[in-house]
Amino acid sequence: MSEDEEIEKFIAEVQESAKYAQLENGLVRQIALEELRNQKDQRIALKTTRTRLHRLAGAFLAPKLDYAKWLDNFRSLSLDDFVAFKESSKRILKLHASTQERLPFLDTFYQTCLAPIAPITSVLDLACGLNPLAMPWMPLQKDCIYFACDVVEPLIDFLNGYFPLSKQTGSAFTCNLLQSIPQHKVQVAFLLKLLPILDQVDSGASSTLLDEVQADHLLISYPSKSLGGRSKGMKQTYADHFERITSGRKFEVHSFDFPNETVYLLSR
Ligand SMILES: C[S@@+](CC[C@H](N)C(=O)[O-])C[C@H]1O[C@@H](n2cnc3c(N)ncnc32)[C@H](O)[C@@H]1O
Repeated sequence: MSEDEEIEKFIAEVQESAKYAQLENGLVRQIALEELRNQKDQRIALKTTRTRLHRLAGAFLAPKLDYAKWLDNFRSLSLDDFVAFKESSKRILKLHASTQERLPFLDTFYQTCLAPIAPITSVLDLACGLNPLAMPWMPLQKDCIYFACDVVEPLIDFLNGYFPLSKQTGSAFTCNLLQSIPQHKVQVAFLLKLLPILDQVDSGASSTLLDEVQADHLLISYPSKSLGGRSKGMKQTYADHFERITSGRKFEVHSFDFPNETVYLLSR
């Protein structure tokens, strides 16, 4: 078997598990190649590739999500029944760790962080998870356009089914931010709880994003507790990270503290 064929076989093996088969191919390949280089033994490389993909994307979403059922539920609601629409959205937001953690303060989160630039006319939500379902809580202008991307492909299909059922215009697309940065020109880009994830693979990725995203404002956040609920040292570590990536760049910065998330609004 040629070296290329061996690599393809290895990647196919990683993706035998549905959890990894749903991830953007370029990301799976990138991590697989790194682990094949790092590990002497292929069995270990298989394990470490899957562990890293789990930490990057798999860890956040609940297993066995019924996207079709969620869309059916939204279809069954009247767009004018705002209360029911928000209740359904909340039930789904619970199924991604990042949005679940934000639920206790969802009513004030976006209203507070986006107040200096509201009403919002366009958004690019990078590594969005289920966050676009929080649109009803954001101070969006009626004709705001919402772009969203992530590496979880069925999630992207779901979001493209969801936007036409919501009151906002939007579209979602698959994108590995370690390999390409969307060039949509928007008022604000969301980089929520994203930078520590990208830094696990490439310590220069955060700075590149700050330079290349085409947005007037960047909404950046960091978790202040781990998925397991530990918080020791995290706040300081991420405050230092933020300091490092913004040093020498001319941004006006507003910061906001929530019980488990620190947020910065950067304006160019
Ligand atoms: C901690 S979650 C944050 C989700 C969302 N931004 C929020 O705060 O609600 C990290 C997200 O990054 C996505 N992700 C991981 N690696 C990525 C990559 N290389 N490119 C794009 N998205 C990625 C994961 O699938 C996951 O949805």
